[in-house]
Amino acid sequence: MEKDPRVISIIPKPVKCELTSEDFFINKETKIIFNPKFQPVAEYLQAILSNPTGFTLSLEKTEDDSLSKNAIHLLLVDDTEKFRNESYSLVVNSDGIILHASHSNGIFYAIQTLRQLLPIEIESKMVEKVSWIIPGINIFDSPRFKWRGFMLDEGRHFHGINVVKRILDVMALHKLNVFHWHLTEDQGWRIDVKKYPKLAKVGAWRKASQIGGYKSFIRKKRSNIPHGGYYTHEDLREIVEYAQNLHIMVVPEIDLPGHSRALLAAYPEYSCTGGPFEVATDWGIFKDVLCPGKEQVFTFLEEILKEIVPIFPSPYFHIGGDEAPKDRWKTCSDCQKRIVDNNLSNENDLQQYFTTRLVKLLKNFNKIPIGWNEILPVQYDELDQDVIGQHWLHGDEIVVDHLRQGRKCIISRFFYTYLDYPYTMTPLRKSYMFDPIPEELEQIHRRNILGLEAPLWTEWIPTVSRIDWQTFPRLTALAEVAWSQQEKNYANFRKRLPRFLLRLDKLGIKYAKETVVDPSKIKRLFKFLVMVLQDPQNNVS
Ligand code: ACM
Ligand code: ZN
Repeated sequence: MEKDPRVISIIPKPVKCELTSEDFFINKETKIIFNPKFQPVAEYLQAILSNPTGFTLSLEKTEDDSLSKNAIHLLLVDDTEKFRNESYSLVVNSDGIILHASHSNGIFYAIQTLRQLLPIEIESKMVEKVSWIIPGINIFDSPRFKWRGFMLDEGRHFHGINVVKRILDVMALHKLNVFHWHLTEDQGWRIDVKKYPKLAKVGAWRKASQIGGYKSFIRKKRSNIPHGGYYTHEDLREIVEYAQNLHIMVVPEIDLPGHSRALLAAYPEYSCTGGPFEVATDWGIFKDVLCPGKEQVFTFLEEILKEIVPIFPSPYFHIGGDEAPKDRWKTCSDCQKRIVDNNLSNENDLQQYFTTRLVKLLKNFNKIPIGWNEILPVQYDELDQDVIGQHWLHGDEIVVDHLRQGRKCIISRFFYTYLDYPYTMTPLRKSYMFDPIPEELEQIHRRNILGLEAPLWTEWIPTVSRIDWQTFPRLTALAEVAWSQQEKNYANFRKRLPRFLLRLDKLGIKYAKETVVDPSKIKRLFKFLVMVLQDPQNNVS
């Protein structure tokens, strides 16, 4: 492995990066001199340097921009044209290091780059006897997209606070800034709601789980070990605060009206049939969903939101909306009455009706709703202009149509961004080469693509090591897609990757080692595709 400190392999690739001749060495006398606006990031820098170096660098607050020797300067710039919110510059010479930004986010990302310029031992938790050299360099950097997300599904498997914190730590290294937290599913409801205690007492626990990977859709292998868990309000607040310190916004998702079997197991009266139900022990799409014909469903959801919304300072709230079968609505007298009373033409319109009411509730809480692309209506008059679509399923035409309405969206096209997919189907190169902007989209609408998000659905992901394997290094590639400029060079990315992976090794991340398609796996992949195409919903209950 290349150990030469002058071989630069920063991921995501910065906008501009030039090596210069004078290197700098951090020693125990090095000071961190910072503008008062940057106190929290200065303390963060001090903390990440102190464990591995054994130096507690002194902090010095000043509005004075003059430069001292042997110092890391965190300087504020007024030029918000050049230095937009997350932009930064980083200059290293023999006197020290100068970081410039207009906001602390920029300084935070400059620090992430600085980590990657230091020897990999900087990621260690113990004192390491190394020379803390940083090569002379001149960097200017700015993200391509403002939304650079990762989604964790904890409905299928609950992993808990420590696992989430570990993910947030690694997200920060990748300059990712949105943690989309998928907290409710057919197989588990993960948030304590004090007004409805059965959501956690009943909805958070299941008796068994399907195991064995995608193939067990047919063979239905299962483990009879019960699985469950949920977050208290304190837990949720702890994660929100932890993420804030890493400049990551937490966007919670309560998936409605589908994927709600766990909720209905706790409160069957909000279904069409009245139940009873059990928290699902199989994966798939379930026909029993919330009943939009019953008025009390909306009161129930409003009360849940009243409790949950204030915990999350993010301006956004995700309402799911994906994969909601209409079977029960077709035979439910309440749903049919709702259709007639509101002049709706069918059950698809009924989902739009449901979405519209939910959107109104969220707007009353000053939240901008996000939903999977199934919530996007064919007729746009009804949908609130602010609603953001998250595109996972369809081709580009639905994205383009949505954006041409002047609306916003986040791109999570499943074939490129779903991290739970086998590497045979979505190899590293494919994720890396993906461009979230459809070619046919006019320039004027392109700015309404907020960015990119990579979801990790956890049906087959019960352990941390499996999370690591599926996520990395594909998330590393997608982080570069989200941050770096559009021009791509996969060979160049692969050249930079090994050095980055050494850092992940130091952080204990068990990333996937084989990341290119092995031809012997193609046959198995073909068999899997045939199976899915023949029976896409073979475990619908
Ligand atoms: C999804 O994959 N059902 C959003
Ligand atoms: Zn109904």
